[in-house]
Amino acid sequence: MYRPVAGPHAALPALPHAARAPSGEGKVNRASIPGVTPAPTVLILAAGRGTRMRSRTPKVLHELCGRPMLLWPVHAALQAGAGKVVVVDSPERALAEVLPEGVQLAVQPQSDGTGGAVVAAMALIDSDAPVVVLSGDVPLVSADLISGLMRAHAQSGAAATIVSTVLDDPSGYGRVVRGADGAVERVVESKQDGDASPQELEIREVNTGIYAFEAGALKRALGSLTAENAQGELYLPQVLDLLRADGAVIGAHEVKDRRLVLGVNDKVALAEVRKLAQRAIHEQHMLAGVSIVDPDATVIDVDVEIGQDTVIEPFTTIRGKTKIGADCTVRHSYIVDSVIEDGVSVGPFAYLRPGTRLRAGSKIGTFVEVKSSDIGPGAKVPHLSYIGDADVGEGTNLGASTITANYDGQNKHRTTIGKHVRSSVHVSFVAPVSIGDEAYTGAGSVIAEDVPAGALGMARARQTNKEGYAERRKDESLNSERR
Ligand code: UD1
Ligand code: MG
Repeated sequence: MYRPVAGPHAALPALPHAARAPSGEGKVNRASIPGVTPAPTVLILAAGRGTRMRSRTPKVLHELCGRPMLLWPVHAALQAGAGKVVVVDSPERALAEVLPEGVQLAVQPQSDGTGGAVVAAMALIDSDAPVVVLSGDVPLVSADLISGLMRAHAQSGAAATIVSTVLDDPSGYGRVVRGADGAVERVVESKQDGDASPQELEIREVNTGIYAFEAGALKRALGSLTAENAQGELYLPQVLDLLRADGAVIGAHEVKDRRLVLGVNDKVALAEVRKLAQRAIHEQHMLAGVSIVDPDATVIDVDVEIGQDTVIEPFTTIRGKTKIGADCTVRHSYIVDSVIEDGVSVGPFAYLRPGTRLRAGSKIGTFVEVKSSDIGPGAKVPHLSYIGDADVGEGTNLGASTITANYDGQNKHRTTIGKHVRSSVHVSFVAPVSIGDEAYTGAGSVIAEDVPAGALGMARARQTNKEGYAERRKDESLNSERR
């Protein structure tokens, strides 16, 4: 039967957490990061308008490899052992429905900046635990990065530690300004003219929007934020200035792998981040023994499971919570929320819709659509068919152009086809209808009544041949020309 790939802790070359939700999804555990006690409160800022996406959908709900962007940092935080995860949402509370159980929501009354977002979560910040701030639009942050930040923050004793990285093209990001001694002084914004000086714009070390804070220091500084800047917003990085003015030390945790901290502000960046996430997903499957013939021409969502020695040929898309067993071949097909057992052959040009189950050794061939159906072991639907709301028994062969008429315009009905049935070609099954084991149906039949086991069901007009027809036509056309 179906064997999944290695679990979420399996090492992944580029993006270690990209795999799946940690087991016991959503349950916030108190298992702390080694060397860091107590477990941190993780705030994920996600209430911004995301205007640069030019979309009616909130930015952080845009889909990234089968999961809303927001859930990537949520899973990373849970996997890193967060004590509490708080997502900051706008008053529409559009994010509430996607959050896993146990993740809390804070509402930012108006979009007054990243500082305002943290202020909105103030009541949920415990004084005795460190605080980690993540951005809902920096989705590839990993659990390892969060734990590394927590360790660095705990060891340095800084009031705040900012995660930075160096980018070739830092445009749009806040720049990290360091003093002559190399210590972090502040972050200057560049989204709008007026905050950063031309020299500061030359800096390539950027703020990733990820930070660790000592809870008490953060709470004190939040009360003093001002909106005297180019965007007239409360900037969270101003907390760093305020803490420093108070004599506190600001740490920096520089991340070398910039891919983990790319921010998504528009759909161009979303596509770049998707490419990286997709690559990590592919690599995890390939390292677990799946052949992906051309990764650049294959889409696989993050929660898909695929067994060993399965071959995925180009131009295949596998979405949602699809599970594919071992030793399968999938050619040029589109698969959504389906279960495919071992040794199954799919495509080319198959469309498997939600609720499809293909049992071991079965085959779905060319231009075949299947929906909410169970295809028995070794059964075959080789060509040009639609199988919807059907149960098909072991070893049955449904010939070319077999169609289940499952919808009467109001309700869906099931078709039940027994074991070792031969349907011949161009047969319609008008549901609800049942076909017994080892039955046959005649080519071109419209089967609207049950066929008993072992019987032949025929439902088509009888053929009549008109002898000499062609000759008669010739005669008639000659006569009409003479007239
Ligand atoms: C922010 C940082 C910038 C950093 C960059 C990294 C500030 C002022 N700037 O800029 O230094 O280089 O991230 O990606 O913090 N949000 C709210 N409420 C708001 C505004 C934003 O919750 O009122 C959320 C957004 O939903 C988003 C995150 O905060 O998830 C960052 O906001 P965004 O507007 O994207 O900030 P950047 O311009 O990217
Ligand atoms: Mg951003």
